[in-house]
Amino acid sequence: MEAQVDEQEVLAIVEKHDARCGGVIAILEEVQEVYGYLPEDALRIVAKAANRSLVDVYGVATFYKSFSLQPRGKHHVCACLGTACHVRGAPLVVEELERQLDVAAGETTPDGEFTLETMSCLGACALGPIVVTDGVYHSKVNGAAVKKILQSTATKTEAEKEEVEPMVAV
Ligand code: FES
Repeated sequence: MEAQVDEQEVLAIVEKHDARCGGVIAILEEVQEVYGYLPEDALRIVAKAANRSLVDVYGVATFYKSFSLQPRGKHHVCACLGTACHVRGAPLVVEELERQLDVAAGETTPDGEFTLETMSCLGACALGPIVVTDGVYHSKVNGAAVKKILQSTATKTEAEKEEVEPMVAV
């Protein structure tokens, strides 16, 4: 479902950054923090207020994988499919994630709980296959571990999610 965009809120974010000096990334990061993704209406407001073309803003939004143009689920699951993880069995892990969540990679579950994505390398190759859920790194994941990972992710409260240190291997 498309988010209702508050123009004043987006304008306030644009004002905080200098869009001429690469501030567009920071603006989009903050907009995504508010809405969970980058709604089209918000991108139009950013382009106009930052005096940038809409194409420019879309260029940034689509270049970086961390940005999403689609609404995301409450929990974000990202599996690495880079070469090192691939040879250690990542395709089977992704298959199991897709089976358990009943969505294909790139999709969000109909209840809006999980978004499943894949990445090419998450920079922790020696510990692969890697799965990151809401900022928590899970290393040496196999198909059997998927259920437990999803269960622990689903039961994390918003407060617990905020306490998570990014890049923590578990
Ligand atoms: S290939 Fe998966 S972390 Fe590098």
